[in-house]
Amino acid sequence: MPISLSILLTATKGIFLFLCSFFKRGDINKVCIISGTPGTGKTFLTKIISQKINTFCVFLNELIINEKHTLNYDNARETWVVNEKTLIPRLKEIIKREKRSKNYELIIIEGHLSDLVPNKLIDYGIVLRCHPDVLKRRLEKRNYKEGKIKENVQAEILGDCVSFLLEKKRIKSILEIDTTNENFEEIAKNVVSIIRNDKSFKKYALGKIDWLEELFSNNRLGEFFE
Ligand SMILES: Nc1ncnc2c1ncn2[C@@H]1O[C@H](COP(=O)(O)OP(=O)(O)O)[C@@H](O)[C@H]1O
Ligand SMILES: [Mg+2]
Repeated sequence: MPISLSILLTATKGIFLFLCSFFKRGDINKVCIISGTPGTGKTFLTKIISQKINTFCVFLNELIINEKHTLNYDNARETWVVNEKTLIPRLKEIIKREKRSKNYELIIIEGHLSDLVPNKLIDYGIVLRCHPDVLKRRLEKRNYKEGKIKENVQAEILGDCVSFLLEKKRIKSILEIDTTNENFEEIAKNVVSIIRNDKSFKKYALGKIDWLEELFSNNRLGEFFE
């Protein structure tokens, strides 16, 4: 085959593949972090979303333990202290690799420490919320010790995960989603529509959930903060 024809064929094939990749859904290629107090439904929601849209999931707790991004075990708080110096570069590496691969429509980093992902790599931040009474029951079912339940329920009342996410001022979109009613199917469907730009995210706009205000109005704060 003459060289010029071979170059032409290669170029045509290149343009064809480029156009194919441009139009395939995988090119949406968004990065979403899912945060929230333990028990709010991060892992479960991530799994349902990944059944609806081609997703690369990073379950942060698993990654931290499997790859030993830990310093020491905090006995009092019953949790590992995370080595951010090794974890953050690793997260950057994974996200960049998967974005380059263009194999996925969505990359989810799931975990209450997912706000460690550098700002500029995040397209969506989702923070899951759950009413303190329901969260307490969910954590009791997990057989967490009383102190750990109390600490987590207090963090949820104070909206700690929302505050951490808000520090990332450059996230284009932050959604705050109440999972108290366990309507995970509906939430997953809506999140997928939002990411595909088929739906506005007004329903999940930040600031609508305020457990502190609710408990204060009902004179119940003492039950949780003694
Ligand atoms: N397989 C499941 N089927 C039905 N509900 C589930 C399932 N897994 C989790 N859930 C619901 O979601 C809640 C939170 O679970 P999980 O996703 O593990 O929270 P997180 O990852 O935020 O700690 C559970 O307490 C339960 O109500
Ligand atoms: Mg989980």
